[in-house]
Amino acid sequence: MKVAFLGLGRMGAPMAAHVVRAGHDVTVWNRTSGKAGDLLDLGATEGLSVAAAVADAEVVVLMLFGPDAVRAVLADVIAGAPGALVVDASTIGPEAAHEFAKACHAEGLRYVDAPVAGSVKPATDGTLGVFLGGAADDVQLARELAVLWGDPDRVLHVGGVGSASALKLCVNQGLGVMAAGLGESLRLGRDLGIDKDLLLLVLSQTAYGWYLNQKLPMIQADDFTAATFSVDLMAKDLDLAVTSADSDLEVTRACLDQAKRTLAAGHSGEDYAAITGHLAGEGEANGY
Ligand SMILES: NC(=O)c1ccc[n+]([C@@H]2O[C@H](COP(=O)([O-])OP(=O)(O)OC[C@H]3O[C@@H](n4cnc5c(N)ncnc54)[C@H](OP(=O)(O)O)[C@@H]3O)[C@@H](O)[C@H]2O)c1
Repeated sequence: MKVAFLGLGRMGAPMAAHVVRAGHDVTVWNRTSGKAGDLLDLGATEGLSVAAAVADAEVVVLMLFGPDAVRAVLADVIAGAPGALVVDASTIGPEAAHEFAKACHAEGLRYVDAPVAGSVKPATDGTLGVFLGGAADDVQLARELAVLWGDPDRVLHVGGVGSASALKLCVNQGLGVMAAGLGESLRLGRDLGIDKDLLLLVLSQTAYGWYLNQKLPMIQADDFTAATFSVDLMAKDLDLAVTSADSDLEVTRACLDQAKRTLAAGHSGEDYAAITGHLAGEGEANGY
């Protein structure tokens, strides 16, 4: 297949590598140049503009920061890749998915929202969960690529356009609440005079186990610079969750507020576990 892959960030680069390795004819593009090196070594071509990257593409994969980033490239995709299938792997929320599908359909392109569950290691290993939203024949084609970066058993056709993005928001809302919740558990322990290492050990044997299995070293070292999923992405997703719901998600709003405070405290490019660390240590400097 002739594939254009737009967005070579932490997730996009390893996902695109699977497509190249599978033997497809891949042209990559990234807003900031200089990120295509390894992919070019594998056999990809680099497009110097969106228009150049998508020319003649049958499928255009987007793996961008969020809805604004997709909006910034979509007009060039639509103009440059007539008839193509757009597979949008970015986390954008259902409203934007409907907007982008409508824009694509109006000009004869096809659109599937295809957000992923899992982070950089599963992206590198090709074991991500992938949610697909769209018409059956569009999803069938999208699936041919999604199984390259996803675990085939976890590549799920969820429903029509937007359904996959809706499901993805529920996944990340839970992670955001967990990050903030643990921060407050640690603060509670601190206030009650519990040793931090003991507390982390015991909490790692509770419902926080999955999260601490990944984030414990960062939280212990109070160093969140080795980001896989950054605070700004989590803030974007919590904001999408709050604005997508008809009802008032009060807890999620509080967690969004904490994510914003973590950003304001200078943790922008850091891992979202910095939300835990920031909440735990706010106002104190006694090891928490
Ligand atoms: N990291 C994870 O663990 C993870 C897991 C599941 C889903 N996701 C989702 O996957 C998507 C990508 O995440 P990531 O971790 O790869 O993020 P990232 O490393 O921050 O990469 C973001 C990408 O978006 C591009 N971009 C940002 N604003 C843009 C704009 N206005 N126009 C064009 N391109 C723009 C960036 O280009 P530049 O290089 O020029 O900045 C970069 O290629 C996000 O929607 C995220 O929520 C991430």
